[in-house]
Amino acid sequence: MSKPLFIVFEGIDGCGKSTQLRMLCDKLTTIGRSVVATAEPTDSKTGRMLREALSGKDARSATEMAALFTLDRIHHNVGAGGIAETLAAGKDMISDRYYYSSLAYQGSLTDYEWVRRMNCDCPDIRKPDLCIFLDMEPKAALARVGKRGEVTEIYEKEETLTLFRKTFHRVFASLDDNVAVVDADGTPDEVAARVFAAVSPLL
Ligand code: TYD
Repeated sequence: MSKPLFIVFEGIDGCGKSTQLRMLCDKLTTIGRSVVATAEPTDSKTGRMLREALSGKDARSATEMAALFTLDRIHHNVGAGGIAETLAAGKDMISDRYYYSSLAYQGSLTDYEWVRRMNCDCPDIRKPDLCIFLDMEPKAALARVGKRGEVTEIYEKEETLTLFRKTFHRVFASLDDNVAVVDADGTPDEVAARVFAAVSPLL
């Protein structure tokens, strides 16, 4: 059995991250690994502030959002039951979103370099073993968001998601991180097979 893995899922809103995250957790559990699922924003106090802002209830600037997401991420790493503690206990940690979202979303809206440094140079923000980017056309992704019938969040517009997707690709080309770009078009089983093929070399 390999060391505990820290894997993150990324993608624009509606790309199917939560389904794929669940399927990967199930698969890893089936092969005998101990897995914990997590997500950002977290349910910390800062996470709750972020939800208020994402819903549009509490307007915040892009720099405020970047700072809040970073604070939430530091707590996610070092807080009780967080990433560091879970990995130290020998369990895999799989997160729905991580710093790539800050680089793509807030990095598109304010000073990218500042957002990158705040996250990538932070001593308490761990680099994941693997980032799985579920790549999808914004139009198709938004159709999925619409079907869920949830209240639309501030970033869920085609033009915005097109910009964020482009930035995601630029981020991956410029960072020295282990990233698998996975085509998110297809049935959940088809996409899950692609995801598992990306994870297998680490097992
Ligand atoms: P959520 O409702 O969890 O969306 P999803 O299911 O698509 O993950 O809300 C997360 C939102 O927050 C999403 O629009 C992306 C955004 N976000 C950022 O802008 N920066 C970040 O660093 C993170 C983690 C998320």
